[in-house]
Amino acid sequence: MTTPARLVVLISGGGSNLAALLRACEDPGYGAEVVAVGADRPSAAGLALAEAAGVPTFVERVGVYPERTDWDAALTDQVAAHEPDLVIAAGFLKLVGPRFLAEFSGRYLNTHNSLLPAFPGIHGPKEALEYGVKLAGATLFVVDDGMDTGAIIAQVAVPVLDDDDLEALTERIKVAEREQLVHTLGRMVREGWQVQGRRVRLGPA
Ligand code: GRF
Repeated sequence: MTTPARLVVLISGGGSNLAALLRACEDPGYGAEVVAVGADRPSAAGLALAEAAGVPTFVERVGVYPERTDWDAALTDQVAAHEPDLVIAAGFLKLVGPRFLAEFSGRYLNTHNSLLPAFPGIHGPKEALEYGVKLAGATLFVVDDGMDTGAIIAQVAVPVLDDDDLEALTERIKVAEREQLVHTLGRMVREGWQVQGRRVRLGPA
C-alpha cells in the first residue's frame, strides 16, 4: 500500500459518504487521499463535490455499452488508470462484473445501509422498517461476487424508533455509516487488516 493510500471512490448519488472521506483526507495524518471519483450516471450529485475538491472524476454508464461485460471492462480500466490501493463503493448502485472483481480482489469495499446479512440490495432501510426490526445500521464489507455477501469489516447499529418514517431512519443510519466508514478506513490504511475466510481483523498480521 502506498502512503498515503490511494482511494478511488465510486458513487451514484449525493455523495455524503464521499464528502466525509474528502474531509478526513484533508488531514495528512489520516493516511489516505481520494485520487479519483467515478459514477455510473452523470446526475450523481457527488461528482460536483469531487470537482470542487479538485479530484478527477469519470462517468461510466451501463447503457452506452452493448454488453454489461463491456461496461465492466471500461469501468475497470478507468479505475485502474488511477492506480488505487483501495476502491470504495459509497452509494454505488451497480454490481460490478468479473473483470473488475479480479482486478481489485480484496481491495474493493462497499458500505451498505443495513446490518448484513439482513436486507441486502438497494432498499435496506425500507425493508428494515417494514420488517419491524428494533436495530438497523450499516455494514462495511469486502465485495465478493454476490450481492452484499462479502466478508464483514465493521458494523454499526442504530435504534429504530417507534415514530420513525423512512426518511428519519435512513438519515440516522447514514450519520452512523459515515462515521464508521471514515473511522474504519483510516484504521485499515494506517494499521493494515487481515482476512481469514469470512473473518476480518484490523491491525498488523
Ligand atoms: C448510503 O447509505 C449507502 O449505504 C446506500 O446509499 C447511501 C449513499 O449515500 N447504498 P451518499 O450518496 O453517500 O450520500
